Amino acid sequence: MNVKVGVEAHKRSDQDADKQAYRERQRQGACHDRADQGRVLCGPAGSGKSTFAAQHFIPTNIVSSDYCRAMICDDVNNQQVNRDTFDLFYYIIQKRMFLGCFTVADSTALQSEARRKLRELSRRSGYLGCLLIFNIPPEICLKRDKMRQRIVGEQVVAYHAGLLQRTLQDAPHEGWEQVQVLGEEDMDAIIEILAQ
Ligand code: CTP
Ligand code: MG
Repeated sequence: MNVKVGVEAHKRSDQDADKQAYRERQRQGACHDRADQGRVLCGPAGSGKSTFAAQHFIPTNIVSSDYCRAMICDDVNNQQVNRDTFDLFYYIIQKRMFLGCFTVADSTALQSEARRKLRELSRRSGYLGCLLIFNIPPEICLKRDKMRQRIVGEQVVAYHAGLLQRTLQDAPHEGWEQVQVLGEEDMDAIIEILAQ
């Protein structure tokens, strides 16, 4: 029991130190307070989430579930390590948000539980929840999937297409401050979020 108290006290002091360090960097102008501070990407495999992220954000802003998977087991296709992959994914996001760093969560986020978790993390850190849904037809996702190195295949794309339809219905009722639905023609859009 004493040990637990000690560990928690240590964690608290670590967190205070992190906050202090962040404030100091802010004072020096290295971090910028932004009204929004994050984006949650959501869409089928091959819909262009990672491509969009690479075009609009600096690499260190982006926390990618694929990259977390590769960091754990060197194999970006290994579905056996989902749990560890997402433990790491959420952990990094939580750490970045705690420091107030702009964070782009790059995963399919097509399951309501995944979105709930990401919404919860951003809410806890005082971020506005901005969900970008990539509403790209399965034929296009499939075509793109076939052209790339990491192929997920027809079955996965079809499964994701079903989840996408469900997501489009559910997302407006999930407590996001902003839900943006991006179509094929919006890939170059600069997404503005209104300070609320
Ligand atoms: N691509 C394209 N035109 C776009 C967007 C993407 O040709 N407007 C291509 C990319 O170059 C890539 C493929 O489509 O080869 C899939 O895009 P990607 O960004 O990797 O899709 P994601 O949504 O990130 O897929 P996943 O969920 O599997 O990571
Ligand atoms: Mg991707």
